[in-house]
Amino acid sequence: MHERFWEMVAEAAQDEADAVGFYRRMADIAPCRAIAHSIEDIARDEMRHLNYLESLLCSRQERGRYYRDRRKREGSGERPLTIPTIPDPYPAVQVEGPNPEYARLLLDDYAGIVSEMTAITQYLFHHFDMPEELADVAQMLEDVAIVEMHHMEILAELIKLLGQPPMYMDGQGLFWNATYVPYLSGCPCEQLRSDIHAEQTAIETYRRHIELIDDRYIKEILARIVMDEELHLQLFSEAYEKYCAGGRHKEG
Ligand SMILES: [Fe+2]
Ligand SMILES: [Fe+2]
Repeated sequence: MHERFWEMVAEAAQDEADAVGFYRRMADIAPCRAIAHSIEDIARDEMRHLNYLESLLCSRQERGRYYRDRRKREGSGERPLTIPTIPDPYPAVQVEGPNPEYARLLLDDYAGIVSEMTAITQYLFHHFDMPEELADVAQMLEDVAIVEMHHMEILAELIKLLGQPPMYMDGQGLFWNATYVPYLSGCPCEQLRSDIHAEQTAIETYRRHIELIDDRYIKEILARIVMDEELHLQLFSEAYEKYCAGGRHKEG
């Protein structure tokens, strides 16, 4: 009897996840912003249901099985994120009009020194390099890198709409390079400190760019990205507190 109940919770979670994706796709192509906003509200409600069902599954340690089944159904090797996410949908990617100056500002966020490109490669390297006893941190870093990839994709689309090709360079035309990554191999606490610093700097830079860019669509999108970065800052800070505060983890 109980077994069937938990199966139904897993099925309901899958349905809610599908519904969230469905409403977001619908909002993206709504004929006007008022309708898009209402549909985004529905998606937010579904996301709340999904979070509740997932927390139930989590508490029953059913989550692993649910995700395995979900992967099987979807027929792909893709795995859902295990970190918390912001329920607010991303605004539609659009601009008021082409603008090379704004494209340059966004290229800095895209592939400058402190950029999504650096964040992705930095968190992935720290993920590869984490010791086994910090497996949860390694997992979190990979998940955060996946979110940063989504940010990078959004920025690439914006830069294109503003009239520039989204090549891996900053606003001055300097190509991104692998020395931007603070590797800090073998020092997980130093790595976490640099990850915290990366998020803090990203938040400051995005906020400055929101001030400088007079395009309501770009402002909205950057503000939504900042919400993710604030969550990343919190996740990294909690991991640091758990393993590193007071010299708890001995660096090798
Ligand atoms: Fe980001
Ligand atoms: Fe981030």
